[in-house]
Amino acid sequence: MSVMKILTFPDPRLRTVAAPVEKFDKSLKKLTDDMLETMYSENGIGLAATQVNVHKRVIVMDISEERNEPRVFINPEFEIKSNKSLYTFSEGCLSVPGFNEEITRPDQIILKWQNLDGDNLEDEPEGLLTVCIQHEIDHLEGKLMVDYLSTLKRDRIRNKLNKRI
Ligand code: NI
Repeated sequence: MSVMKILTFPDPRLRTVAAPVEKFDKSLKKLTDDMLETMYSENGIGLAATQVNVHKRVIVMDISEERNEPRVFINPEFEIKSNKSLYTFSEGCLSVPGFNEEITRPDQIILKWQNLDGDNLEDEPEGLLTVCIQHEIDHLEGKLMVDYLSTLKRDRIRNKLNKRI
């Protein structure tokens, strides 16, 4: 396994829309292993392939407190079940290091994805997994958490991150 380099905002490659995974082979398993190692090494709870400059619909995640429940989502998609119930969470992102911002998202969704064998799975998650998976699926669409903020706030974050390079 190896740690991959994470792209940071405002790198334009983070705006790429990822392509569906069609081959469920050894290289896909290797990609998810490397992504998990990268996520754990940075203490993140989720990572999308877009963030490591691989433009495939692949997400890894671990929202357990013990950091011992790695999860892999291939070709994930969701439908909003109800807009009535919302969940506000102070989100962070390995591509926007050092910033946490409160973002409100629907918390009742139907989530569909595939595992590493290509099996189709479905769930109706709640709480942290619900917001985390929406954050990560946004990455696959080239969207970032800063897009939910005001232009003023986004520009301030961009200026601060540009200074660090
Ligand atoms: Ni992120």
